[in-house]
Formats: sequence, structure tokens, C-alpha cells
Amino acid sequence: MIIVKYNFISKFSINSSIINLYLCTQIVLMCNMNKLKIGNLTAKLPIIQGGMGVGISLSGLASAVANEGGVGVISCAGLGLIYRNTAKDYMEACIIGLKEEIKKTREKTSGIIGVNIMMALTNFGEMVKTSIAEKVDVIFAGAGLPLDLPKYRTPECVTKLVPIVSSGRAAKIICEKWKTLYNYLPDLIVVEGPKAGGHLGFKANQIEDPNYSIEKLIPEVVAEVSVFEQKYNQEIPVVAAGGIYTGEDMYRIMELGAKGVQIASRFVTSDECDADIKFKEAYINASENEVEIIQSPVGMPGRALKGQFLERVKQGLTAPKSCPYNCLHTCDYKKVPYCIIVTLYNAYKGKMDKGYAFAGNNAYKATKISSVKEIIEDIKNGFDTVKAKFEKRS
Ligand SMILES: Cc1cc2nc3c(=O)[nH]c(=O)nc-3n(C[C@H](O)[C@H](O)[C@H](O)COP(=O)(O)O)c2cc1C
Repeated sequence: MIIVKYNFISKFSINSSIINLYLCTQIVLMCNMNKLKIGNLTAKLPIIQGGMGVGISLSGLASAVANEGGVGVISCAGLGLIYRNTAKDYMEACIIGLKEEIKKTREKTSGIIGVNIMMALTNFGEMVKTSIAEKVDVIFAGAGLPLDLPKYRTPECVTKLVPIVSSGRAAKIICEKWKTLYNYLPDLIVVEGPKAGGHLGFKANQIEDPNYSIEKLIPEVVAEVSVFEQKYNQEIPVVAAGGIYTGEDMYRIMELGAKGVQIASRFVTSDECDADIKFKEAYINASENEVEIIQSPVGMPGRALKGQFLERVKQGLTAPKSCPYNCLHTCDYKKVPYCIIVTLYNAYKGKMDKGYAFAGNNAYKATKISSVKEIIEDIKNGFDTVKAKFEKRS
């Protein structure tokens, strides 16, 4: 939307018959999106970049999104592999890697940055403690219910705590537990629907069921959360994730009560995304029927792009020989067909024959690699266009 703003400055000269009118015209291009509040932080844009492991969202992508006014998010998953040469063991390398990625992100942006930490990780607590000590703006905790997350807060803690949930029930349980046990409420809640990439918080039969769609989940979570907002007089913005690709998608879900969106797949095909070019090309080359649901060794369903590695898995041709990193609570290497951390690391490095790309159900829409700035401009324009259309109608 273009707003033309006139600043009139009238000035009487010594000769009172002459009035000099200085007309300053400013054309202010203004995006219609609201800002996003996360506790006492305010993001200029209500766009959170979803954390993507292994290595897909590190300092490159996170800083680029933060520089555009969104929230940039570093993924914790598998940092110990990426930084394995810095320490004698995987767990220590994870901590070194996280500190390093936070430092690099901070060097490139003064915007809002977050860290995504999965509950399923055996070093969840260590990653949370490190993020809080490094004064990361926001922790996003998903892949499980982070019921004890506030226990890691220190007296000096400035880090905002955000759970990722997939139901109104989960949102309610978290609010209740956090308030009762820690006198703390989430600073924001991300609701991840079944169209997301990566691990999904749904049973296989719920993924295509319209009753579990993000359009159903958002009003449900907003209703649950509003009880706590009113009771404790605290805002808890609800943000939608999963399958949001365009400004139109964003506008529609925000009309249903979301205060913003978390977008992941769309940012994969950016210059700044930290994955190898072959990973990005897999997105560009994928067609709609090449996005599939898999059963992940984490014990949850996941969404990924078909490929030769997953084909070999289906044929029973893969098997991990050992568990070198003990990275997940929920994985027993003797029972799973591959080591997920190594497999995702291979994909991040572009070895697509030895790994696969997690992807949201709209990931196949990518046609080219653009800058984060261009992607965000496109989303903003799409949002403004649809908003103007709807406002004209009503
Ligand atoms: C390549 C990839 C890796 C992901 N890794 C993680 C992760 O490590 N932790 C997590 O909580 N979510 C992960 N996700 C989920 C995203 O953060 C996000 O919520 C979701 O993909 C949003 O849907 P979209 O991709 O359709 O935008 C991943 C998604 C993708 C596509």
C-alpha cells in the first residue's frame, strides 16, 4: 500500500502579503504487516524463520532474516558434527558450535535472533543453558513438550522462551505447568501444523485429516491461550507454521488469529541459507509428488523429498553400524534403519546420495535461488495485495 503523506510548513515572510508555502511530499512505502511482540522484544516483521537442522539454518540464514526485521533462528541439531574438529567429543563440539554460530550471527546483525532446540536431543539442557548464557533473544523448543524449559532461567536471563506445539491441548498443558511450577508463561507460542517440513507432531493418519489442519489449530490454540492471557494479564502471541509460502498464505492464517508466521522451506532456496547448493537444488528440482511422509528414527513422522537414499531405506538396504554420537533420547541404533544425524549432515554437505532433505509440503514451489531480502519483499507484496483486495470487498 502506498501512503502519500504531505507535510505542510507555512512560513510568513517580512512582506506579509507573501506566503511561502513549503510543501514537502514524502512518499512513504508502508507494509501493512503488524509488528510481532515477543515479551519485551518487538520484531519489525511478524516472520520467524523456522530452525532447520542439520546445518540448514546457521548464522548465514539467521542473520539475513534478522536483518530484514524478522526473527532469524539457528538450529542446534547436529552442531557437534559440523564442529567436530573443535573438541574431543560430540557434546563438547555442540556447545562450541552453538557459541560460534551465535557469535557469527551477532557479528552480522543487530536484529532478533533465536535458537531452535529439539526436546528429543540428549543435550537439550546443555543447549538451553548455553543459549541463555550467551543471551540469545529467543529459544524455540520443539519436537516434544518442553515442560521444564523455564527451570533453566537464571536471575540474569533475558532469553524469551517459546514452545512449538501441534495442538490446543499441548498449549494449555504448557501454560498450566509453566505457571504453576515456575510462575512463567510462554513469551509466544508457535503452532506447527501438519504441512511443515522436518518432524511432525502428528500421527500418520492425522496428517491429511482436515481436523488437524493449521486453519483448525490456530483458532483452537488462540482460544486456549486467551484464558491465560486474561487471567494473568499477559500477551501470548500465537504464530502459525507449516506450509506457509506466500504473502497470501500468511494473510489468510493471520486472519484466523495468528499474530505472525514461522516459515522454513521458503528460505531454503535463498543465497544465505547455510546448506550446500545441491540441497537447495533438490528443492528447485522437486515436483509436488516428490514430497513424501517418512517415519523418522526420532520416532515421529517427518516430511522430506524423495530421493535415492530414502529409496534404499525402503528397500531395507541401510543400517547403522554403531551409534557414535548418542544424540537422541528416542533412538536405538539397533532398531532404526539409519543414523539420522549423519544422514542429515550428509544432505547439508550436498551428498544427496547419502542423505535426504527435509521439506515442507510446499517446498516444491521453489523455482530459483533468491536473496532473503527478495523473498521477504515478495511475501510482503503478496500480503499487501491480498489484504487490499479483502479490504475493498468488505
Ligand atoms: C530442512 C528442514 C529442517 C528442519 N529442522 C527442524 C529442526 O531442527 N527443529 C525444529 O523444531 N523444526 C525443524 N524444521 C521445521 C521448521 O522449523 C518449520 O517449523 C516448518 O518446516 C515450517 O513449515 P514450512 O517448511 O512449510 O515453512 C525443519 C524444517 C525443514 C524444512
